[in-house]
Amino acid sequence: MSLLRWRLNRRLTAAPGGCGTEPIPPNLEAMCGVSRGGGLAARHGLMSAVLSDGRPSIRGVANPTLIDLFAGCGGMTAGFVAEGFEPILAAEWNLHAAGTYAANFGEDHMFWGDIAALAAADIPPAEVVIGGPPCQGFSNLGSKDVHDPRNKLWKEYLRVVAAAKPKIFVIENVQRFRASTEFQMLLAEADGGLLKDYRLEHGVLLAADYGVAQRRPRTIVIGSRVGPVPLPEPSHGRPGSGRQEWQTVRSRIAGLPEQPGSVALPATRTEYFGQEMPGEFKYLDLHLARRPKDKSLLRYDAIPPGGGRFDLPDELMPDCWRNKPTGTTDVMGRMRWDAPSLTIRTEFYKPEKGQYLHPQWDREDPANRVNRPITHLEAALLQDFPEDFLWCGSKIEIARQIGNAVPVGLARAIARLLLPALA
Ligand SMILES: C[S@@+](CC[C@H](N)C(=O)[O-])C[C@H]1O[C@@H](n2cnc3c(N)ncnc32)[C@H](O)[C@@H]1O
Repeated sequence: MSLLRWRLNRRLTAAPGGCGTEPIPPNLEAMCGVSRGGGLAARHGLMSAVLSDGRPSIRGVANPTLIDLFAGCGGMTAGFVAEGFEPILAAEWNLHAAGTYAANFGEDHMFWGDIAALAAADIPPAEVVIGGPPCQGFSNLGSKDVHDPRNKLWKEYLRVVAAAKPKIFVIENVQRFRASTEFQMLLAEADGGLLKDYRLEHGVLLAADYGVAQRRPRTIVIGSRVGPVPLPEPSHGRPGSGRQEWQTVRSRIAGLPEQPGSVALPATRTEYFGQEMPGEFKYLDLHLARRPKDKSLLRYDAIPPGGGRFDLPDELMPDCWRNKPTGTTDVMGRMRWDAPSLTIRTEFYKPEKGQYLHPQWDREDPANRVNRPITHLEAALLQDFPEDFLWCGSKIEIARQIGNAVPVGLARAIARLLLPALA
């Protein structure tokens, strides 16, 4: 175990542990146990070479080191690891998300707890820091002061950047982030403040433009102190764009059983950070059926690909929608086979929340329609997770991990872009 990892685990035994809504570990000593997990890079053959000083390498030079803050289940880390980055620290306070991260990338460098409890002494130098602190609000009328309590999580992000002194940091957030107080604060810090050594580039990237089968817009901020790092150029586009065509829902989920068998995850349990939790689950374990009511099935059946609640006949229209003829069009929507999906959010298993109905629908042949929302597996594949990714937690927790993640393909495109600047 490296010195940092030993110190991190030692520190965890002394720290107050999780906070906020998370349980406090009853047995802190257990968190110092033998580290497990972390097989994703190995399973993909990415850790094959080792330098003479023992550092892992896939390009003949040491893999760039990575810290992931607010890591969730590790969607963003998965993209960076696929490009040869070496995760050395991650922070996440949700137990099951941290468990999923640990199952795929290793338990030893995951700080499970409130990022505010991560001691300065346990923040190693790293070449890259990634992560997206959650935003409190989206009004640019608020305070730009880093000490404003509403900016607490941003303060924590900046604290880690100041301690790790990365060459580059990357922030990912929702599209509206650029209208937020937190964004204004970030710009102010780059203008002579804590981030004065960094040059910022920012914009909204569409995951589909980077080979992900999903039209998910995301704000990306790249801060570099090693020369300008512009945002990645799109590799894909809509038909006629002159680029490779967008990946489609078909390319990700065709061929999976149309009628999943089980409504429940297997009963297996695993243990990370000394805590027992449901898991580890993989691939078809996540292909879960639901048991909709007859009326819901009639509604699903009435909606063609690309359609939504406006396609419902009057007798099937719920009152709340009948009384609200305008507004979001994608709810109760059905995906199209030959287009990317819309954004996969955390409640993709509820058709009334977005365009989540399975794309199979034949106008002439009602027997050739698949009347159900996408499964957890299908959502994970549309988020570009590899098929051998492991999952921990309940159905609801895993859905949240999937919907919160940065699509792996988008993270890969960003990671690839950074490599020349780090060389
Ligand atoms: C949008 S998700 C991150 C998704 C992740 N980047 C991925 O690609 O999978 C934000 C995460 O921040 C975590 N979080 C929020 N506040 C935190 C805190 N104070 N300390 C640690 N983690 C926190 C949440 O539990 C959530 O999993």
